[in-house]
Amino acid sequence: MTSMLQGAPWLLAHSSMLPINQPRKISLYGNDYVIWKDVQGSIHALPNACPHMGAMLSEGWCEVSSNGESAISCPFHALQFDASGCTVLPGANKKNISLLKPLELIVQDKFIWTYGGYEPKIEIPSILNEIAQTCQFVGHTADRSVETDLLTMLLNMHDYNHQNGTHRELFRITEVQFQQFVDEGHVSHAFYEMPTAPYSLIEKIKKPDLLLLPTKFNAHLENHFPFFIIFHGETSVGKAAQCHFFVPEAENITRTYVIFFYQPKHPIFKIFGSIFLNFAKVVVDQDADILGKIYPNSPQKIRLNNEVGMDWVKRNFENFPAVVTPNLSR
Ligand code: FES
Ligand SMILES: [Fe+2]
Repeated sequence: MTSMLQGAPWLLAHSSMLPINQPRKISLYGNDYVIWKDVQGSIHALPNACPHMGAMLSEGWCEVSSNGESAISCPFHALQFDASGCTVLPGANKKNISLLKPLELIVQDKFIWTYGGYEPKIEIPSILNEIAQTCQFVGHTADRSVETDLLTMLLNMHDYNHQNGTHRELFRITEVQFQQFVDEGHVSHAFYEMPTAPYSLIEKIKKPDLLLLPTKFNAHLENHFPFFIIFHGETSVGKAAQCHFFVPEAENITRTYVIFFYQPKHPIFKIFGSIFLNFAKVVVDQDADILGKIYPNSPQKIRLNNEVGMDWVKRNFENFPAVVTPNLSR
């Protein structure tokens, strides 16, 4: 068992999360990289430590050359590295041999994937490309690094009982009515309903966003082990796909973020986009909060109903990258 599932592809970002020529730091498997997008929309990533004296290149800036490509300038002594990691030293008239091995990226449509330099063991799923073709992209939110390991993060995200504890302040879910869990190996679907306790009129007047919360959540979660979950929502005014991603930044730091797509049936649905993003942010912040308040390796001596999603995570984690015979459908 590998604790960070090396050999899985990870979605580092949606292209819209990278403003042009603005370097950003990303981490994977304990390594830091600087990632940036040039004016042509090409995306590049290099190890983040400058080979001169170790400054963080992500704290530097982009320098645009005449062909539209951009190089990254180190914030310390301003050496400039092109996308392949080469630089021209002062006094020299040609580029040196690259001392920075670029991180290999696989860009599909606007989705930026990587295997982090490991041999691919499972494939990049096509579902996100399909969603992007049929839905509009709304935005991203809740991009944060949580001090927890990948397995603990995944268990939390496939735990269908934590709404009443972790998320009680937002949703006031009275119970989880589990309907079906469909296990297809590395993909699974969970269907359940969650009635909510009503908010008072005063609360709604104070916080009009609450009017958007339904009296009953119809949840359809589409899980793709290990990299993301899609929360499908449908109302009379439109369909939404809220996608939650995970990236193992280091043994005990796991990044998560949300990107949101919708297919409006009615123009009113458009204005809801940012409100839904806001809800997603609150949800992720609540998850991050509880993840910081769990004793690691504490033995589980009680089992609740509906822990089937967590069983699915454990099985896939232990057998990675093999897909063992699905046996959890019910
Ligand atoms: S540390 Fe980067 S140029 Fe000196
Ligand atoms: Fe949660």
